[in-house]
Amino acid sequence: MSKIIDGKAVSASVKEAIRTELEELKATKGLTAGLAVIIVGDDPASKVYVRNKKLACEACGFESFEYALSAETTQEELLDLINKLNNDDRVDGILCQLPLPKHLDEKVVINNISPAKDVDAFHPENVGQIMIGDYKFLPCTPAGVMELIASTGVEIAGKECVVVGRSNIVGKPMAMLLLHKSGTVTICHSKTKDLAEVCRRADILVAAVGVPNLIKGDMIKEGAVVIDVGMNRLDNGKLCGDVEFETASEKASYITPVPGGVGPMTIAMLMKNTLTAAKSKLKD
Ligand code: GUN
Repeated sequence: MSKIIDGKAVSASVKEAIRTELEELKATKGLTAGLAVIIVGDDPASKVYVRNKKLACEACGFESFEYALSAETTQEELLDLINKLNNDDRVDGILCQLPLPKHLDEKVVINNISPAKDVDAFHPENVGQIMIGDYKFLPCTPAGVMELIASTGVEIAGKECVVVGRSNIVGKPMAMLLLHKSGTVTICHSKTKDLAEVCRRADILVAAVGVPNLIKGDMIKEGAVVIDVGMNRLDNGKLCGDVEFETASEKASYITPVPGGVGPMTIAMLMKNTLTAAKSKLKD
């Protein structure tokens, strides 16, 4: 039977450390720190994410600025707002919640966020910095996964690491972070010939494809660390991951639940990036 990695507990301790550091910097250096979150339209899942980000800001001591824009917002209006926030000294981090309505160009929007305030680490400049291992911000979900792996005490160096999924937001940067820690990394995707066979090689398996219960127990090596980034809403309204928890937990040494695994870590890492962005003002 595996040990369950408690993402809520790890997230709470990361946020508490941020709160303490920020409080100290406010008192000693007069540091201010703020996060602007933009949401366009009324996607219910996005609304929940944005509300949780705001609550985390309050818990850590950041000022939060929320911009809830109508689904009809034009590209020009959105870019004007981003430009205004890029030049607002109270705002250290800017996050534009994705996905955006179809008529808006996500790539252009991301490219217009100042790299210094890009707490999602989605801007090509920050993506490039991650590639060469010289980064200020790490993308929140992969960074959260790394914290969860670290919490198990399992060493990454020399291990077989398999990432299922190749998105720009999770799969690709995830593979890069595992590589930076000297894992032997394989990325699987929809064209992978024998997914089960590749997964069974993994000492550390990260599933981030968005297919409910794709990874079953018989695809997992005995004693593997299994991290489930999946967040799938089933027809019955329940949340479920990309890993079939019941069978996988028979094989894994450590496993994350859904919900309560990776999800809370993404927000904790966003708070960490916001503090990093704010602290960069101290160096000027
Ligand atoms: N939508 C789902 N996850 C994320 C995220 O991490 N950042 C942004 N900006 N949008 C998202």
